[in-house]
Amino acid sequence: MPAAGIAPGGSGKEYPGNLTPFVTVTCIVAAMGGLIFGYDIGISGGVTSMDSFLRDFFPSVYRKKHADATVNQYCQYDSQTLTMFTSSLYLAALLSSIVASTVTRVFGRKLSMLFGGLLFFAGALVNGFAKAVWMLILGRILLGFGIGFANQSVPLYLSEMAPYRYRGALNIGFQLSITVGILVANVLNFFFNKIAGGWGWRLSLGGAMVPALIITVGSLVLPDTPNSMIERGRADEARSALRRIRGVDDVDDEFSDLVAATEQSRLVEHPWTDLLQRKYRPHLAMAVCIPFFQQLTGINAIMFYAPVLFNSIGFGADASLMSAVITGIVNVCATMVSIYGVDKWGRRFLFLEGGVQMLICQAVVAACIGAKFGVDGDPGELPKWYSIIVVMFICIYVAGFAWSWGPLGWLVPSEIFPLEIRSAAQSVTVSVNMIFTFAVAQIFLMMLCRLKFGLFLFFAFFVVAMSIFVYFFLPETKGIPIEEMGRVWRSHWYWSRFVEAEAGQGNGNLEMGGKVA
Ligand code: BGC
Repeated sequence: MPAAGIAPGGSGKEYPGNLTPFVTVTCIVAAMGGLIFGYDIGISGGVTSMDSFLRDFFPSVYRKKHADATVNQYCQYDSQTLTMFTSSLYLAALLSSIVASTVTRVFGRKLSMLFGGLLFFAGALVNGFAKAVWMLILGRILLGFGIGFANQSVPLYLSEMAPYRYRGALNIGFQLSITVGILVANVLNFFFNKIAGGWGWRLSLGGAMVPALIITVGSLVLPDTPNSMIERGRADEARSALRRIRGVDDVDDEFSDLVAATEQSRLVEHPWTDLLQRKYRPHLAMAVCIPFFQQLTGINAIMFYAPVLFNSIGFGADASLMSAVITGIVNVCATMVSIYGVDKWGRRFLFLEGGVQMLICQAVVAACIGAKFGVDGDPGELPKWYSIIVVMFICIYVAGFAWSWGPLGWLVPSEIFPLEIRSAAQSVTVSVNMIFTFAVAQIFLMMLCRLKFGLFLFFAFFVVAMSIFVYFFLPETKGIPIEEMGRVWRSHWYWSRFVEAEAGQGNGNLEMGGKVA
């Protein structure tokens, strides 16, 4: 069978080290960097379904929404400025992740996190006090700058800090924070929407200052990763930091591998252009394909627009926000399943199981919506059981994503790049993620309006494609030390032809199906 990678815990090295309280606390604090991203994802969907917010800033949408109940339900939210509001952030995040690549490499992971927190704080401030659409957009651009820095540096930080046996679980702390951020935002939207006078949206948007402060303060107290210290010429400090992080004195093996990785990385002067070299082809392919596929699961159609979507398919305003809270809870709980299983069952199992689960749900939801709304978007009277089934399958879909592509979309890229291209490649991952988050945000409302229930089939097609991709091209990375990752490519039926065998480190395998389990 061509697909499997090397057996975890196989012939490779085993560094001594424990899951110390120090590393656990450090990783929990750093993972909170995901809160800002999550809070924003949850907030934007909620405020855009609040009447007072629409009336003040997007009057045409407001009018359309209230004009005529017989109007095509698929199309009531289709507006360019509203879409621009949601998606401007992602373009900003894309740009800043490129700048963050240099900051992270040259000045350390912590400084990027600090910038992330500060910029996000500034954005929240501007948004909370917004008086005009331009202020909203400016605020979102600042938020986006913050997210670019945080998403570039936090996953790398976590993967470098964690003992390799627990790397999956600790790294997924980032995704857990994203999901907690989304949930908190959904709950707050639900309550703020009820504030008399209709200014609750200011609290929703301004509330982003809280997660911003958490990551700002966190970045000031966190230690830097040993990998980054060595990279910046502070080897002695790095050795004692490593002892403290791993909780053992004997860190020589790991330390010398880190030093070797750093020497290798010194040879690289232009990480961006080097990324294009043939030997980095598997890494580049993953840096692009993983975030691309993550977004093409269609998850953000649900995350950004859950209230809008539920509203469109017949729920009242309150019920819509409430359903978004339910999907938020499912998202958090299912992410915990992933934390539990990722270092036991492996990445590939979760990816493939999650894919099948999402596919089934997308087909069912498409069929339900198609059956009731048809192509004219007029559902007539909607029975209660119908709404329950739609929400239930959306929840099962969210769970599938939340233990597969959600966390692994950030974990896998952060653990597969060699140090010399790690920072640049991670920026590629963030940028691609943001471009396609942007694209989905831009086209979702338009596609809902034009493709109608077919939209869910569109995403289902990509779920099939990504599962095939994982099956054939993604090697298992569970239980492999991060600086040892080279061997998964060297023993892969396809990727081995791109990476050269290094002396004493096994041979490349040019034949399909040769050396693999
Ligand atoms: C994705 C986001 C998504 C979130 C949902 C993240 O991993 O990058 O785009 O909204 O998961 O939980």
